[in-house]
Amino acid sequence: MISAVRNGIKQLIMKGVIVYKSKYGATTQYSNWLADELGLPLVKAEEFDSKSLSDFDFVILASSIYIGKWLLRDWVKQNADVLKSKKLFFVMVCGTPSSDFKEQERLANTNIPSSLAKNSNVMFLRGRVVIKKLSLMDKLALRFASSMVNDPLKKKEMTEGYDEVSRANMVDIIKKVRAYLQAMNVQKAESNLV
Ligand SMILES: Cc1cc2nc3c(=O)[nH]c(=O)nc-3n(C[C@H](O)[C@H](O)[C@H](O)COP(=O)(O)O)c2cc1C
Repeated sequence: MISAVRNGIKQLIMKGVIVYKSKYGATTQYSNWLADELGLPLVKAEEFDSKSLSDFDFVILASSIYIGKWLLRDWVKQNADVLKSKKLFFVMVCGTPSSDFKEQERLANTNIPSSLAKNSNVMFLRGRVVIKKLSLMDKLALRFASSMVNDPLKKKEMTEGYDEVSRANMVDIIKKVRAYLQAMNVQKAESNLV
């Protein structure tokens, strides 16, 4: 009896994983907080054995954006066939302000394969730039990009850096993942009753 109840409970648990890629630590920090809040395993994309993707029902894919490219873009493309049967949460850590919906839409459209877009959520988190920690190439790239920008606030952030990494930013993501888990658990519980 107890094992039957245990099996029932086991069936209700959706298995998830956080796969992430970060360059200077902002995404690593967010991914650690997410893993902590949601009780999920956390794996760097470069250390993740893609064959084990089939073990999971949902995947949170978190990485940052450099010159318009989301760092997990190629990894996601390579694994698109397996990922298309999963519920996906795309997390883009970037400098783009949360009010710039047009740029967010552009970043989502250019970085997420259309075959994966429909069963997914895309979320943006403001990250950080610490100028003195950047590689020479990144410093130069940012300096060049800042010379093309007119908005004084954006220019200041690009030349002096900024830090908006905060646990409080994750409220929406956590809500969305929990809402999904709740909906799936209700669905599974109902199908178990039939
Ligand atoms: C060289 C460089 C280029 C960047 N390009 C973009 C960009 O195109 N769009 C954007 O929204 N943010 C951009 N950012 C901001 C980063 O996405 C942000 O700093 C993020 O927090 C980095 O996260 P990470 O430390 O996990 O790599 C850029 C930052 C640097 C240093």
